[in-house]
Amino acid sequence: MRVAIAGATGVLGRRLVQQFRARGDHVVGLVRSASGEALVATLGGESRHVDLFDAEALARAAAGCEVLIHAATAIPVKARPRARDWVMNDRLRRDATRALAACAARIGARLYVQQSVIWVARPRDGTFFDEDTPPHPSPPSRSAYDGEEIAREAGEQYGFNVAVLRCGWFYGADAAHTRWFATQLRSRRLPIIGQGEALLALLHLDDAASAFVAASAAGQSGIWHVVDDQAVPVRDFLQDFAARLAAPPPRRVPVWLARLVAGAYAIDFFTVSSHTSNARFRRACAWAPQFPTFKEGLAQVVASWKATGLAS
Ligand SMILES: NC(=O)c1ccc[n+]([C@@H]2O[C@H](COP(=O)([O-])OP(=O)(O)OC[C@H]3O[C@@H](n4cnc5c(N)ncnc54)[C@H](OP(=O)(O)O)[C@@H]3O)[C@@H](O)[C@H]2O)c1
Repeated sequence: MRVAIAGATGVLGRRLVQQFRARGDHVVGLVRSASGEALVATLGGESRHVDLFDAEALARAAAGCEVLIHAATAIPVKARPRARDWVMNDRLRRDATRALAACAARIGARLYVQQSVIWVARPRDGTFFDEDTPPHPSPPSRSAYDGEEIAREAGEQYGFNVAVLRCGWFYGADAAHTRWFATQLRSRRLPIIGQGEALLALLHLDDAASAFVAASAAGQSGIWHVVDDQAVPVRDFLQDFAARLAAPPPRRVPVWLARLVAGAYAIDFFTVSSHTSNARFRRACAWAPQFPTFKEGLAQVVASWKATGLAS
């Protein structure tokens, strides 16, 4: 298979390059810097320096590829992101999707794969949801949903398949959010909000990458939820993570106080359940997570930090 990847230098993209190369596929990483070119080469891919918002340049860069993957995001990593912190992420979700979908049409790709997030369909009351649940994105996930629609409409118009992978919350040893969580837990600045009973739907980044590879091999159109096998209460996740880091147990703060300090987005994330299932994706694309729950995944993350001296 010949695969072009936008965001090939990111936490997901780097794994994609490695996993496709391990299968013997040819990878073209679409990058925006000399350091990005060097990184993709290190991982065994070919790189092309190109602007993700320029459909014509993209078509030249990705010519000959059968599969095009959009894994570029710019998600703010800070305690209290403001609206302006989401602007580039929104542009990547909407404008870059438009350009990449136009590129897919021009190069005659058979499949376009879009990274999205499960939160586009999470009910406000925290009840279970699946791929049939009507979307009602919150402001931070609105552009992810728009990106899904832009890609699907382009696929229908130009005749290529579109696979949308709505991923759960990524974690991994090299993920900025995971490292930020560890730093906050060590200094007891990441509390359990309220009872901490809301469910988190997690996905180890190695499993996220294997899901994109499985969807690319399957080649079908569809929208799928890609999460691990068992959602976990926020309280259990934070307590377990802190214990693995030998950090003190997280404090508890009431919801009203956390709302004042952290703002609505963080409160929503930690207090409204994200409860969905990977059952349809498993069946459609013959995928299974290597890290079925956060326990196996965090064990790997912390072991990796210890091996590199980052956990002390
Ligand atoms: N479902 C989820 O939970 C989810 C989804 C996405 C991200 N995250 C998390 O959010 C954190 C930050 O993620 P991130 O997406 O900012 O970082 P990232 O995954 O490390 O990198 C994103 C990729 O997008 C590229 N990119 C960003 N802005 C671009 C632009 N304007 N033009 C072209 N390419 C661009 C980056 O290229 P450069 O290397 O050139 O910057 C990189 O290849 C990570 O911890 C990640 O795990 C979570």
